[in-house]
Amino acid sequence: MSRELSVESPSPSSRKYPSAVPPIAPPPTPPTDRPLHTLPPPFSEDALTPITQGAEALVYKTTFLTPSTPAVVKYRPPKPYRHPTLDKRLTRSRLLAEARSLVRVKREGVNVPGVLGCDADAGWMVLEYVNGRTVRSVLDSWAEEVREEEKRVFREGGDIGQLARVGGSEHEEIMDLMRRVGREVGKLHDLGVCHGDLTTSNLMLRVADEEGQIRAKPTGRTTTSSQREAAMNGEDPPPSETPQPETPAHQSLAGEIYLIDFGLTSSTIQDEDRAVDLYVLERAFAATHPAAEPLFHEVLKAYGESYKGAKSVLKRLEGVRLRGRKRSMLG
Ligand SMILES: Nc1ncnc2c1ncn2[C@@H]1O[C@H](COP(=O)(O)OP(=O)(O)OP(=O)(O)O)[C@@H](O)[C@H]1O
Ligand SMILES: [Mg+2]
Repeated sequence: MSRELSVESPSPSSRKYPSAVPPIAPPPTPPTDRPLHTLPPPFSEDALTPITQGAEALVYKTTFLTPSTPAVVKYRPPKPYRHPTLDKRLTRSRLLAEARSLVRVKREGVNVPGVLGCDADAGWMVLEYVNGRTVRSVLDSWAEEVREEEKRVFREGGDIGQLARVGGSEHEEIMDLMRRVGREVGKLHDLGVCHGDLTTSNLMLRVADEEGQIRAKPTGRTTTSSQREAAMNGEDPPPSETPQPETPAHQSLAGEIYLIDFGLTSSTIQDEDRAVDLYVLERAFAATHPAAEPLFHEVLKAYGESYKGAKSVLKRLEGVRLRGRKRSMLG
Protein backbone atom coordinates (compact mmCIF):
# COMPACT_ATOMS: atom_id res chain seq x y z
CA MET A 1 0.00 0.00 0.00
CA SER A 2 1.39 3.44 -0.88
CA ARG A 3 2.34 5.86 1.87
CA GLU A 4 -0.30 8.42 0.92
CA LEU A 5 -3.11 5.90 1.19
CA SER A 6 -2.13 4.77 4.66
CA VAL A 7 -2.30 8.32 6.02
CA GLU A 8 -5.56 8.91 7.84
CA SER A 9 -7.47 11.65 6.04
CA PRO A 10 -8.46 14.64 8.18
CA SER A 11 -12.11 15.52 8.66
CA PRO A 12 -13.41 17.88 5.91
CA SER A 13 -13.57 20.83 8.32
CA SER A 14 -10.01 20.47 9.51
CA ARG A 15 -8.60 19.69 6.04
CA LYS A 16 -5.92 22.20 5.00
CA TYR A 17 -5.00 22.59 1.36
CA PRO A 18 -1.31 23.03 0.60
CA SER A 19 -0.63 26.66 -0.08
CA ALA A 20 1.37 25.72 -3.19
CA VAL A 21 -1.89 25.01 -5.13
CA PRO A 22 -2.92 28.23 -6.87
CA PRO A 23 -6.60 29.13 -6.83
CA ILE A 24 -8.51 28.16 -9.99
CA ALA A 25 -8.47 31.09 -12.35
CA PRO A 26 -11.63 31.93 -14.31
CA PRO A 27 -11.31 31.29 -18.04
CA PRO A 28 -10.06 34.22 -20.06
CA THR A 29 -12.71 36.22 -21.91
CA PRO A 30 -13.30 34.86 -25.40
CA PRO A 31 -11.57 36.48 -28.36
CA THR A 32 -13.38 39.65 -29.31
CA ASP A 33 -12.14 40.01 -32.87
CA ARG A 34 -15.68 39.22 -34.04
CA PRO A 35 -19.05 39.07 -32.27
CA LEU A 36 -19.88 35.58 -31.02
CA HIS A 37 -22.91 35.23 -33.22
CA THR A 38 -21.17 36.21 -36.42
CA LEU A 39 -20.20 33.31 -38.61
CA PRO A 40 -16.56 32.87 -39.50
CA PRO A 41 -15.43 33.16 -43.14
CA PRO A 42 -16.39 32.08 -45.81
CA PHE A 43 -19.90 33.11 -44.68
CA SER A 44 -21.21 36.63 -44.92
CA GLU A 45 -24.26 37.86 -43.04
CA ASP A 46 -26.05 39.22 -46.10
CA ALA A 47 -26.27 35.76 -47.71
CA LEU A 48 -27.77 34.15 -44.61
CA THR A 49 -31.41 34.01 -43.57
CA PRO A 50 -31.87 32.92 -39.94
CA ILE A 51 -34.09 29.85 -39.45
CA THR A 52 -33.67 29.18 -35.74
CA GLN A 53 -31.45 30.09 -32.85
CA GLY A 54 -31.39 27.21 -30.40
CA ALA A 55 -29.46 26.84 -27.17
CA GLU A 56 -26.61 25.13 -28.98
CA ALA A 57 -26.74 26.11 -32.61
CA LEU A 58 -27.66 28.88 -35.01
CA VAL A 59 -29.32 27.66 -38.18
CA TYR A 60 -29.43 29.72 -41.36
CA LYS A 61 -30.69 29.22 -44.85
CA THR A 62 -28.19 30.08 -47.55
CA THR A 63 -27.11 28.91 -51.00
CA PHE A 64 -24.37 26.51 -51.93
CA LEU A 65 -22.23 26.60 -55.09
CA THR A 66 -24.98 28.13 -57.22
CA PRO A 67 -27.31 30.97 -56.22
CA SER A 68 -30.32 28.71 -56.78
CA THR A 69 -29.16 25.75 -54.68
CA PRO A 70 -30.54 26.19 -51.17
CA ALA A 71 -28.52 24.92 -48.23
CA VAL A 72 -28.50 25.19 -44.46
CA VAL A 73 -25.62 26.40 -42.31
CA LYS A 74 -25.56 25.05 -38.78
CA TYR A 75 -23.16 27.02 -36.64
CA ARG A 76 -22.20 26.31 -33.05
CA PRO A 77 -20.81 29.60 -31.71
CA PRO A 78 -18.19 29.63 -28.95
CA LYS A 79 -19.62 29.50 -25.43
CA PRO A 80 -18.17 32.33 -23.35
CA TYR A 81 -18.89 30.50 -20.07
CA ARG A 82 -16.76 27.51 -21.03
CA HIS A 83 -13.01 27.34 -20.99
CA PRO A 84 -11.94 28.11 -24.59
CA THR A 85 -9.87 24.94 -24.98
CA LEU A 86 -12.62 22.71 -23.61
CA ASP A 87 -15.22 24.60 -25.63
CA LYS A 88 -13.30 24.11 -28.87
CA ARG A 89 -12.81 20.44 -28.15
CA LEU A 90 -16.48 19.84 -27.31
CA THR A 91 -17.79 21.78 -30.31
CA ARG A 92 -15.39 19.96 -32.59
CA SER A 93 -16.28 16.49 -31.36
CA ARG A 94 -20.05 17.13 -31.42
CA LEU A 95 -19.94 18.57 -34.88
CA LEU A 96 -17.82 15.73 -36.21
CA ALA A 97 -20.05 13.15 -34.54
CA GLU A 98 -23.12 14.78 -36.10
CA ALA A 99 -21.56 14.94 -39.57
CA ARG A 100 -20.31 11.34 -39.39
CA SER A 101 -23.70 9.99 -38.29
CA LEU A 102 -25.48 11.88 -41.05
CA VAL A 103 -23.10 10.58 -43.69
CA ARG A 104 -23.31 7.03 -42.39
CA VAL A 105 -27.08 6.75 -42.10
CA LYS A 106 -27.65 8.49 -45.41
CA ARG A 107 -25.40 5.93 -47.10
CA GLU A 108 -27.58 3.22 -45.57
CA GLY A 109 -30.73 4.75 -47.02
CA VAL A 110 -32.21 6.77 -44.15
CA ASN A 111 -33.73 10.10 -45.22
CA VAL A 112 -31.40 12.74 -43.75
CA PRO A 113 -29.91 15.91 -45.26
CA GLY A 114 -26.57 15.37 -46.99
CA VAL A 115 -23.48 16.99 -45.49
CA LEU A 116 -22.13 19.45 -48.07
CA GLY A 117 -19.27 20.84 -46.01
CA CYS A 118 -17.94 21.03 -42.49
CA ASP A 119 -15.24 22.91 -40.58
CA ALA A 120 -15.30 21.35 -37.15
CA ASP A 121 -12.67 23.75 -35.72
CA ALA A 122 -14.64 26.80 -36.83
CA GLY A 123 -17.89 25.16 -35.63
CA TRP A 124 -19.98 25.03 -38.81
CA MET A 125 -21.55 22.51 -41.09
CA VAL A 126 -23.42 23.02 -44.38
CA LEU A 127 -26.33 20.70 -45.03
CA GLU A 128 -28.65 19.97 -47.88
CA TYR A 129 -31.80 22.06 -47.51
CA VAL A 130 -34.93 20.07 -46.73
CA ASN A 131 -37.89 21.77 -48.43
CA GLY A 132 -40.92 21.60 -46.23
CA ARG A 133 -41.81 21.95 -42.60
CA THR A 134 -41.28 20.21 -39.31
CA VAL A 135 -43.68 17.52 -38.09
CA ARG A 136 -44.18 19.78 -35.10
CA SER A 137 -45.65 22.48 -37.29
CA VAL A 138 -47.82 19.87 -39.07
CA LEU A 139 -49.14 18.66 -35.70
CA ASP A 140 -49.68 22.21 -34.46
CA SER A 141 -51.85 23.01 -37.49
CA TRP A 142 -53.68 19.71 -37.04
CA ALA A 143 -54.30 20.43 -33.34
CA GLU A 144 -55.63 23.84 -34.29
CA GLU A 145 -58.06 22.21 -36.73
CA VAL A 146 -59.15 19.72 -34.05
CA ARG A 147 -59.80 22.55 -31.59
CA GLU A 148 -61.85 24.40 -34.20
CA GLU A 149 -63.82 21.24 -34.92
CA GLU A 150 -64.40 20.63 -31.21
CA LYS A 151 -65.73 24.16 -30.81
CA ARG A 152 -68.02 23.72 -33.79
CA VAL A 153 -69.42 20.38 -32.54
CA PHE A 154 -70.12 21.79 -29.07
CA ARG A 155 -71.60 24.98 -30.52
CA GLU A 156 -73.99 22.87 -32.54
CA GLY A 157 -74.94 20.92 -29.44
CA GLY A 158 -73.11 17.78 -30.56
CA ASP A 159 -71.60 15.18 -28.29
CA ILE A 160 -68.27 13.42 -27.93
CA GLY A 161 -69.48 10.60 -30.20
CA GLN A 162 -69.62 13.07 -33.06
CA LEU A 163 -66.10 14.26 -32.27
CA ALA A 164 -64.81 10.78 -32.88
CA ARG A 165 -65.90 11.14 -36.48
CA VAL A 166 -63.90 14.34 -37.03
CA GLY A 167 -61.40 14.04 -39.82
CA GLY A 168 -62.55 11.86 -42.70
CA SER A 169 -60.13 11.93 -45.63
CA GLU A 170 -57.87 14.41 -43.83
CA HIS A 171 -57.69 11.95 -40.95
CA GLU A 172 -56.44 9.25 -43.34
CA GLU A 173 -53.90 11.71 -44.73
CA ILE A 174 -52.38 12.43 -41.33
CA MET A 175 -52.46 8.74 -40.39
CA ASP A 176 -50.47 8.00 -43.51
CA LEU A 177 -47.95 10.64 -42.49
CA MET A 178 -47.66 8.93 -39.10
CA ARG A 179 -46.87 5.63 -40.80
CA ARG A 180 -44.08 7.32 -42.75
CA VAL A 181 -42.68 8.66 -39.45
CA GLY A 182 -42.76 5.19 -37.89
CA ARG A 183 -41.04 3.58 -40.85
CA GLU A 184 -38.27 6.20 -41.04
CA VAL A 185 -37.47 5.91 -37.32
CA GLY A 186 -37.52 2.13 -37.80
CA LYS A 187 -34.93 2.42 -40.60
CA LEU A 188 -32.62 4.34 -38.29
CA HIS A 189 -33.05 1.95 -35.38
CA ASP A 190 -32.55 -1.05 -37.62
CA LEU A 191 -29.02 0.27 -38.26
CA GLY A 192 -28.35 0.27 -34.52
CA VAL A 193 -28.41 4.07 -34.39
CA CYS A 194 -30.38 6.08 -31.83
CA HIS A 195 -31.28 9.66 -32.54
CA GLY A 196 -30.95 10.90 -28.97
CA ASP A 197 -33.31 13.88 -29.38
CA LEU A 198 -36.25 12.51 -31.30
CA THR A 199 -38.71 15.38 -31.01
CA THR A 200 -41.25 16.47 -33.59
CA SER A 201 -39.02 19.50 -34.39
CA ASN A 202 -36.32 17.12 -35.53
CA LEU A 203 -38.57 15.38 -38.03
CA MET A 204 -39.32 17.16 -41.28
CA LEU A 205 -41.87 16.57 -43.98
CA ARG A 206 -40.09 17.17 -47.25
CA VAL A 207 -42.42 18.24 -50.02
CA ALA A 208 -41.94 16.73 -53.44
CA ASP A 209 -42.06 20.13 -55.11
CA GLU A 210 -38.59 21.21 -56.29
CA GLU A 211 -39.31 24.85 -55.52
CA GLY A 212 -39.98 24.07 -51.90
CA GLN A 213 -43.46 25.49 -52.12
CA ILE A 214 -45.99 23.71 -49.98
CA ARG A 215 -48.85 23.32 -52.37
CA ALA A 216 -52.31 24.04 -51.13
CA LYS A 217 -55.12 21.94 -52.55
CA PRO A 218 -56.33 23.93 -55.55
CA THR A 219 -59.92 24.18 -54.39
CA GLY A 220 -59.18 24.90 -50.75
CA ARG A 221 -60.78 22.84 -47.98
CA THR A 222 -63.84 21.35 -49.57
CA THR A 223 -64.43 18.33 -47.33
CA THR A 224 -67.58 19.01 -45.38
CA SER A 225 -68.85 17.14 -42.33
CA SER A 226 -71.56 15.47 -44.40
CA GLN A 227 -68.98 14.31 -46.95
CA ARG A 228 -66.80 12.93 -44.17
CA GLU A 229 -69.69 11.14 -42.63
CA ALA A 230 -70.68 9.62 -45.97
CA ALA A 231 -67.09 8.48 -46.53
CA MET A 232 -66.98 6.87 -43.08
CA ASN A 233 -70.24 5.03 -43.80
CA GLY A 234 -69.03 3.91 -47.22
CA GLU A 235 -71.75 5.92 -48.99
CA ASP A 236 -71.47 8.19 -52.00
CA PRO A 237 -70.47 11.66 -50.86
CA PRO A 238 -72.94 14.52 -51.36
CA PRO A 239 -71.86 17.14 -53.93
CA SER A 240 -69.15 19.57 -52.83
CA GLU A 241 -70.18 22.88 -51.46
CA THR A 242 -68.61 25.99 -52.92
CA PRO A 243 -65.35 26.53 -51.01
CA GLN A 244 -65.57 29.21 -48.36
CA PRO A 245 -63.04 31.91 -49.19
CA GLU A 246 -62.23 32.51 -45.51
CA THR A 247 -61.33 28.83 -44.88
CA PRO A 248 -57.53 28.49 -44.68
CA ALA A 249 -56.00 26.41 -47.49
CA HIS A 250 -55.34 22.86 -46.43
CA GLN A 251 -51.67 22.00 -46.71
CA SER A 252 -50.81 18.77 -48.41
CA LEU A 253 -49.17 16.13 -46.24
CA ALA A 254 -47.58 14.37 -49.19
CA GLY A 255 -43.82 13.96 -49.12
CA GLU A 256 -41.05 12.06 -47.42
CA ILE A 257 -40.09 12.18 -43.77
CA TYR A 258 -36.55 13.41 -43.08
CA LEU A 259 -34.71 13.10 -39.79
CA ILE A 260 -32.53 16.05 -38.81
CA ASP A 261 -30.39 17.22 -35.87
CA PHE A 262 -28.00 14.35 -35.23
CA GLY A 263 -26.02 16.18 -32.53
CA LEU A 264 -26.89 13.66 -29.80
CA THR A 265 -26.90 10.48 -31.86
CA SER A 266 -25.34 7.29 -30.57
CA SER A 267 -24.58 4.02 -32.21
CA THR A 268 -26.05 1.33 -30.07
CA ILE A 269 -27.47 -2.13 -30.19
CA GLN A 270 -29.54 -1.69 -27.02
CA ASP A 271 -33.32 -1.91 -27.24
CA GLU A 272 -33.50 0.31 -24.18
CA ASP A 273 -31.99 3.28 -26.07
CA ARG A 274 -34.33 2.71 -28.98
CA ALA A 275 -37.28 2.62 -26.59
CA VAL A 276 -36.13 5.88 -24.98
CA ASP A 277 -36.04 7.47 -28.45
CA LEU A 278 -39.68 6.42 -28.93
CA TYR A 279 -40.62 7.65 -25.49
CA VAL A 280 -39.17 11.10 -26.22
CA LEU A 281 -41.21 11.20 -29.41
CA GLU A 282 -44.32 10.07 -27.55
CA ARG A 283 -43.93 12.93 -25.06
CA ALA A 284 -43.55 15.39 -27.94
CA PHE A 285 -46.79 14.10 -29.48
CA ALA A 286 -48.61 14.27 -26.14
CA ALA A 287 -47.52 17.91 -25.76
CA THR A 288 -49.40 18.93 -28.92
CA HIS A 289 -52.95 17.80 -28.11
CA PRO A 290 -54.59 14.97 -26.12
CA ALA A 291 -56.21 13.84 -29.37
CA ALA A 292 -52.73 13.11 -30.80
CA GLU A 293 -52.65 9.77 -28.96
CA PRO A 294 -54.17 7.75 -31.83
CA LEU A 295 -51.70 9.44 -34.16
CA PHE A 296 -48.74 8.24 -32.13
CA HIS A 297 -50.32 4.82 -31.95
CA GLU A 298 -50.13 4.72 -35.74
CA VAL A 299 -46.44 5.73 -35.59
CA LEU A 300 -45.78 2.78 -33.27
CA LYS A 301 -47.78 0.39 -35.42
CA ALA A 302 -45.73 1.22 -38.51
CA TYR A 303 -42.53 1.16 -36.45
CA GLY A 304 -43.40 -2.31 -35.15
CA GLU A 305 -43.64 -3.62 -38.70
CA SER A 306 -40.57 -1.81 -40.03
CA TYR A 307 -37.77 -4.17 -38.97
CA LYS A 308 -37.20 -7.49 -37.31
CA GLY A 309 -36.37 -6.41 -33.76
CA ALA A 310 -38.97 -3.62 -33.56
CA LYS A 311 -41.54 -5.62 -31.60
CA SER A 312 -39.17 -6.18 -28.68
CA VAL A 313 -38.41 -2.42 -28.61
CA LEU A 314 -42.14 -1.77 -28.27
CA LYS A 315 -42.20 -4.14 -25.30
CA ARG A 316 -39.33 -2.19 -23.78
CA LEU A 317 -41.22 1.04 -24.31
CA GLU A 318 -43.83 -0.09 -21.80
CA GLY A 319 -41.14 -0.28 -19.10
CA VAL A 320 -39.68 3.08 -20.08
CA ARG A 321 -43.15 4.63 -19.85
CA LEU A 322 -43.68 3.20 -16.37
CA ARG A 323 -40.38 4.59 -15.15
CA GLY A 324 -41.13 7.94 -16.80
CA ARG A 325 -44.48 8.11 -15.02
CA LYS A 326 -42.93 7.22 -11.67
CA ARG A 327 -40.27 9.87 -12.14
CA SER A 328 -42.85 12.54 -12.95
CA MET A 329 -44.92 11.52 -9.91
CA LEU A 330 -41.91 11.87 -7.64
CA GLY A 331 -41.12 15.23 -9.22
N1 LIG B 1 -31.36 20.59 -43.46
C1 LIG B 1 -32.34 21.39 -43.09
N2 LIG B 1 -33.22 21.83 -44.00
C2 LIG B 1 -34.23 22.66 -43.65
N3 LIG B 1 -34.43 23.12 -42.41
C3 LIG B 1 -33.58 22.70 -41.45
C4 LIG B 1 -32.50 21.82 -41.74
N4 LIG B 1 -31.81 21.61 -40.60
C5 LIG B 1 -32.44 22.31 -39.65
N5 LIG B 1 -33.51 22.97 -40.15
C6 LIG B 1 -34.44 23.83 -39.41
O1 LIG B 1 -33.76 24.40 -38.31
C7 LIG B 1 -34.32 23.95 -37.07
C8 LIG B 1 -33.21 23.70 -36.07
O2 LIG B 1 -32.29 22.77 -36.60
P1 LIG B 1 -31.61 21.66 -35.69
O3 LIG B 1 -32.68 20.86 -35.07
O4 LIG B 1 -30.60 20.95 -36.50
O5 LIG B 1 -30.90 22.60 -34.65
P2 LIG B 1 -30.99 22.71 -33.05
O6 LIG B 1 -32.16 21.96 -32.53
O7 LIG B 1 -30.85 24.14 -32.69
O8 LIG B 1 -29.69 21.99 -32.81
P3 LIG B 1 -29.06 21.30 -31.54
O9 LIG B 1 -30.18 20.57 -30.84
O10 LIG B 1 -28.03 20.38 -32.18
O11 LIG B 1 -28.47 22.39 -30.75
C9 LIG B 1 -35.13 22.71 -37.42
O12 LIG B 1 -36.18 22.48 -36.52
C10 LIG B 1 -35.61 23.03 -38.83
O13 LIG B 1 -36.74 23.87 -38.77
MG1 LIG C 1 -33.45 20.39 -33.20
